[in-house]
This record gives sequence, structure tokens and C-alpha cells, in this order.
Amino acid sequence: MRNRLRLRRPKRPISAVAAALLFLDFTTSGAASSGPTFYRDVLPILQERCQSCHRPGQIGPMSLETYAQARPWARAIRERVIQRAMPPWFVRPGSSAKFANDPTLRDEEIRMVSNWASAGAPAGNPAEAPPPKHWAAGWSLGTEGNQPDVVFTMPRVALPAKGDIDYTYAIVPTHFTEDRWVQMAEIRPGDRAAVHHAVVYVREPGSTWMKGAPVGPTFTSRTLTSEEDRKGAAWTDSDLLLVYAPGSLPDRWPAGMAKFIKAGSDLVFQMHYTTRGVASHDQTSIGLVFSKQRPTQRVLSLQLTNDRFLIPPGVPDYRASVHGTMPGDALLLNLFPHLHARGKRFTFSVALPGERPRTLLDVNWDFHWQMSYRLAEPLRLPAGATLSATAEWDNSRNNPNNPDPDSAVRWGEQTWEEMMVGFFDVAVDAALDKKAFFALRKRK
Ligand code: HEC
Repeated sequence: MRNRLRLRRPKRPISAVAAALLFLDFTTSGAASSGPTFYRDVLPILQERCQSCHRPGQIGPMSLETYAQARPWARAIRERVIQRAMPPWFVRPGSSAKFANDPTLRDEEIRMVSNWASAGAPAGNPAEAPPPKHWAAGWSLGTEGNQPDVVFTMPRVALPAKGDIDYTYAIVPTHFTEDRWVQMAEIRPGDRAAVHHAVVYVREPGSTWMKGAPVGPTFTSRTLTSEEDRKGAAWTDSDLLLVYAPGSLPDRWPAGMAKFIKAGSDLVFQMHYTTRGVASHDQTSIGLVFSKQRPTQRVLSLQLTNDRFLIPPGVPDYRASVHGTMPGDALLLNLFPHLHARGKRFTFSVALPGERPRTLLDVNWDFHWQMSYRLAEPLRLPAGATLSATAEWDNSRNNPNNPDPDSAVRWGEQTWEEMMVGFFDVAVDAALDKKAFFALRKRK
């Protein structure tokens, strides 16, 4: 399991790392006997910034909950935090927005961890330890003291050892007898190594999307009997509840803003599995935390999609863009880029009416870390504001993730093909659904 998720990240200039090491080493000389200890100084940082992944059942390769667990990793921890490789975060300096889920350690925290490791990783006094963090069994939602109010689980799917697997769907009825507002949601894959992405949609009662598809058992578009269902499987105007890809963490929407699930809706799981040489099983779940109060705004998940690019073979920096104009007033809450293995960089920009465009988010794309970037301050997007996304791919031999530098690449569902989707959540008036929101444009 250890090396399964080993990341390949862009090499940092050695000189920058060396300079950081030098600087940090320099400060250790004053640490002496009153230097940082595990229980008093380091454990609080591990609890807040590391244990969400470094605990049993999560994606981190080892647990960092106790002194005995952390002690053997002290050097590695020091190295990773100095390089700013842990906690993982991929935002480049050109991004103008600040992000609520930015886990970056402060300089003094890095210095603390580094000095602790350099001083031989002393334990200190256990009486000075912060209270242990309580995690709801396996759910990261528990970080914030929440247990899911309800959990929906798809049926178990057998996965072959090799080959491409068509998108796998499961329709799971909510049996909600009243409308529900969702404040937080988390998708938990059964087999983290096989789930390349999971998207959970809300199919409202009366929707014609895949209306002939079986409710309960899993299926692929190929196994559907109606032509219309087969064609429509991957295209829907149903609202997305949540997207999961490796590295993503649970989503929470700000107070007063929530996702809406109408009574009687179904949840539709769309699973993209990749094979990994051994047969396995997956059974993915989604956990929901309901809003305590009725929200005043509804969260809609929208997307900017470009499916018309053609990336020539061998090109190291091929770019494609897409933009869209907001049909009505909205608040922008988060951004979630999605590319495949050749992805290199992804940017989101915004142009408010009458203003020049500015870059909101600029990330070094890492296929293994796909996440939602939550704005620290929701951004007002008046009707007419333009949001644009630009992707850059590296289809050259120098890209270690490139499945085949000799082929031209188009849009496709499989990992050896490419995608370009910029997902984003907006909050709109609580009475608007997606259709009503887009209809605002026509009224003007
Ligand atoms: C979002 C999840 C996540 C968070 C948060 C996180 N890690 Fe990790 N960490 C991983 C994963 C996955 C790996 C394995 C892949 C890799 O090595 O990059 C890893 C690897 C490591 C390694 C290298 C282990 C090895 O095998 O050599 C160290 C050390 C480490 N993390 C320390 C930390 C520390 C310290 C923090 C907090 C300051 C932290 N991590 C926060 C997910 C996370």
C-alpha cells in the first residue's frame, strides 16, 4: 500500500530547497533544551494538518496519531514540510483568490517541526498533549465534529485486474419523504486505488434522465436497453451533489448555503474505475450532513467544459480554453479543475462586467491530487460576469505520466484520453434550480 500513491511532482529548483534547509538549520542552534517537544508542539500540528490523511483507512501511507507512530518518520516529516510537499497543495503564486482549505503550514510551524526532528524528536511531557482528535469512524467529515446524518451506499462491484472499464452507474433511491438541504457531503470510495473519479448526481422525481435504467443494480451505458438512455447516460442537467477524485476531501458549503435534494429524489453514482493489475471490489458511499436551518441560498454545481480540443503528439505545452457568462447573480464558492494524465496546469479567471480579467486560481496539475479549492471569501458574480478556464497539457516524452507521447489526443472518458472540465459551485437564490437559473438569461 505504501507506494501506491507515490506522487510525481514537478521538481523544485534544488537551490530553493537548499536555501530553505540552510535557513531552518540555522535557527535550530538556539533550540537547546527548551526546544519543541512532540506532545506540546508537534502533535497539535499533526492533528490539524496531517491526520485527516495520516490515520487508518485514509490515503496517507502511515498514521501520525501517536508518538510511537511519528517518531520513526521524524526525518521524513522534516524533509517533506521544509519542501512544502506536505500537506499537499498545488496553487501557484499567480492566484489572486485565497482558499479556505489551504493547509499550508506557517513558517513558524515548519520551523517548529524541523527543530523538533533535528533535536532527535524528543517526546516531552505527555501531560502537555492536546486532547486526541475524535474522528467519526472513517469519515473525514468528523474532523469538524460531525457524523453523517445519512449514508447511501452503492452495490458492490467486481473489478477486473486489467483493461478499461466503462463508466459504472448505480441509482440509489433516497426515500426522502420531505425536501432536504445538505450542508456537508463526503464520498468514501471502497477501493481507493481503483476509483479514478466518482460523481454523485441528484435525479429529481419526474426527471427523464436514464429513465429506463434499473434502480438498484449497477450498470454501464452499454447495458442499457433504450437508445436514448444509452446516449444520455453521460450528459445530464441534473445537479451534481459532489465530485470525488483521489486527493479530494469532503465538501462543506458556507452557513446559509446548501445543496438541495427534493423529496423522492434518487442519487446517481457515476463511477470511473481504473484497473491496477489485481482484481478487486469497490463499494462507494456518500455521507451527508443536513443543514441545521433552512438556508437562504441554494448551491448549484456548474461546469465549464471543452470537449473539442486535439492535442498534437509530442507537444509539451498545448493549451485549450473555455468560457461562460453568468446568466444571473451568483456567489462563487469553489473551483475544481479536472484533467487526465497529460494535464500540466489549470487556471480559472474571472472578468466582472466592465473589468479586466484576473486569475483566480492557477494550479500545477497533479493527476493524483484532484481537489476542490474553496474560496475563503465567496466572490460576487453579477449576471454578465465571465468565468474562463484554461488547461495546459504535456503530451511530450518528458511527462512521466504520459501514456503515449506519439498519439494525438481528444476528449474521452478513459485515462489515456483527455478531459477538460472546470467544475465550480455557485450560491443562488434558494428558489432557483439549475434550469430556472439559466432561464434568467433569456428573460433579459
Ligand atoms: C490530503 C492528504 C494528506 C495530508 C493532509 C498530509 N499528507 Fe502526508 N502523505 C499523503 C500521501 C497520500 C502520501 C503518499 C504519497 C507521497 O509520498 O506523496 C504522503 C506521504 C507523506 C510522507 C512520506 C512518507 C514516505 O513513505 O516516505 C510524509 C513524511 C508525510 N506524508 C508527512 C505529512 C505531514 C507531516 C503532514 C502534515 C503536516 C502530512 N503529511 C499531511 C497524504 C497527506
